[in-house]
Amino acid sequence: MDLFQVVRDRRSIRKYQDRPVEWEKIEQLLDAARLAPSWKNMQCWRFLVLNGGEGRQALLDAFPEDNPGKKAIASAPVVIVVCADPSESGVENGIEYYVADTAIAFEHLCLAAHALGLGSCWMGWYDERAVREGLGIPEGMRVVGITPLGYPDQEPKPRPRKQLSEIAFVGQWGKAAC
Ligand SMILES: Cc1cc2nc3c(=O)[nH]c(=O)nc-3n(C[C@H](O)[C@H](O)[C@H](O)COP(=O)(O)O)c2cc1C
Repeated sequence: MDLFQVVRDRRSIRKYQDRPVEWEKIEQLLDAARLAPSWKNMQCWRFLVLNGGEGRQALLDAFPEDNPGKKAIASAPVVIVVCADPSESGVENGIEYYVADTAIAFEHLCLAAHALGLGSCWMGWYDERAVREGLGIPEGMRVVGITPLGYPDQEPKPRPRKQLSEIAFVGQWGKAAC
């Protein structure tokens, strides 16, 4: 699939088929994440793959009822917990780059999932301490995001995006590029 098509067609998927995900596909998308760029190439990211029911109750305990993705965490065949070791990244201008490093890798993973016919949904609204303690993730690691993973059982419409003229400037701040 063409890169631009993958970027255009990816959606946050919150409903999954009851169908296992082939391990080769999981490896492929983890490898896509592994190839992401990072601060000084330090690759601070770590991924915890939970297959079947592994760790699921601990995750559910950490997700608020109001999180629209909670049901997907309960029902998706796979969940991937995306973590970072901040000591393997840098801080510049007050920006903690472990978040950026890991976000890039996470998005590689989500785009690769879509290219393989799988759905994902970045989720950031959970009790991080409960996730860490429930899954035995070492102190000091940050849980940057969590995604369910599986074959989609829905085709969500695209969510609205701002126009390029609102967000891209040329020559001077505020002068629309297009
Ligand atoms: C950093 C981040 C955190 C998010 N957290 C959640 C979440 O906790 N629960 C959820 O259902 N969706 C979550 N989302 C998904 C967004 O709601 C979704 O990306 C947005 O509405 C655009 O829809 P789309 O991904 O289908 O284009 C999150 C997305 C990002 C990037």
